[in-house]
Amino acid sequence: MGASLPLNPVIAMPTISEGNGGGPSEDLFELSTAPYLQNLTESSVTILCITNAKAHSWIEFGPKTLNLRTETHSDGFVQANNSLHKIQLCGLQAHTTYKYRVASRPIVKFDPYDLVFGETVFSNMFSFTTPATHADSVSCIILNDIHDRPYSFSDLLSLCGDFKYDFVALNGDMFDFQTDEKQLIDHLIEPCTTLFASERPFLMIRGNHETRGKYARHFKDYFTYKDNEYYFSFKQGPVHWIVLDTGEDKEDSAPAYGEIVCFDQFRETQAIWLETELEKLEFKDCKYRVVLMHIPVFHSGDWHGTMHCRKLFHPIFEKHGVDVVISGHTHTYGIHPPNNEHRYPIIIGGGPKTDTRTVIQLKADNRQLQLKMIRDDGLVVGEYSID
Ligand SMILES: [Fe+2]
Repeated sequence: MGASLPLNPVIAMPTISEGNGGGPSEDLFELSTAPYLQNLTESSVTILCITNAKAHSWIEFGPKTLNLRTETHSDGFVQANNSLHKIQLCGLQAHTTYKYRVASRPIVKFDPYDLVFGETVFSNMFSFTTPATHADSVSCIILNDIHDRPYSFSDLLSLCGDFKYDFVALNGDMFDFQTDEKQLIDHLIEPCTTLFASERPFLMIRGNHETRGKYARHFKDYFTYKDNEYYFSFKQGPVHWIVLDTGEDKEDSAPAYGEIVCFDQFRETQAIWLETELEKLEFKDCKYRVVLMHIPVFHSGDWHGTMHCRKLFHPIFEKHGVDVVISGHTHTYGIHPPNNEHRYPIIIGGGPKTDTRTVIQLKADNRQLQLKMIRDDGLVVGEYSID
């Protein structure tokens, strides 16, 4: 997962006192969300946070004390006068734990020659650990089809006990449709930061419901993607992770889309990209190839989205011998082993209703890739392993 923001200078700061400090000032300026991590690599991470008013924010961090500070720069500006803060830390050491907190000062007056800031507030202190170079293992938790039920995050993660995970993959349809920022905070960012996202990153993989509604075109602003694309691949542990955006489930011409979508073209672009990506030498030493895509290419009816994904992606999966494809979308969980139609297993998580929701745990090392699907009542409903 590479960097997509401009490099930011890291400025050594005088030692500062630690602690939560701050809190809402008299004018009730505050952080609307805890910070959340995106795109954590061996050497960088992006930290996002939302404030309830326009502000200037920065990150204070360091391996032992908060003696470093960074903020976002572009076009000669330090990022400021915004409420969605996106700050990348670069030059990190692999396999190292860093402490950090967000600092934010509201802009209470922004006249051309008269700029006034309010009192700085701070987030709680958090920490994250960068992956090791050539790590020989990796693990993750996969959720799908939450569909605007924020309580499902804790219901499902509570089933994971002491399962250790490097990241969480949100495999599409976290929402029914996109309305506004408040929905993003209440139904995704707040539950995820409460559970894990301030200290472990997540991948927000778009499903067909993230493409709907008046706020769908702002969705990407709230996350960080490698090369700023919804489809990407990266290496972590012995796995080449491949993320596809399967787009809408009906034809682009369906009246509901108002002739303002072009997902056929988008999927075709991804198929061309995927061929090239799977040929790249940098991934040749990965022991496993794991695909995360919301709409599965089989076991998902015959609507256009499924059939178009099958036509475009399935031959590439077969040609390059992907090891496993993990999806959602159908609301019917199942483990589908290789068969005459597809030579790779297709794992489909359930949801969103109680008694049908699942969480998938995946861990891989050089000996084995293991996958376990747990239903929301705690029952293990499927397992799959590759030696
Ligand atoms: Fe879906």
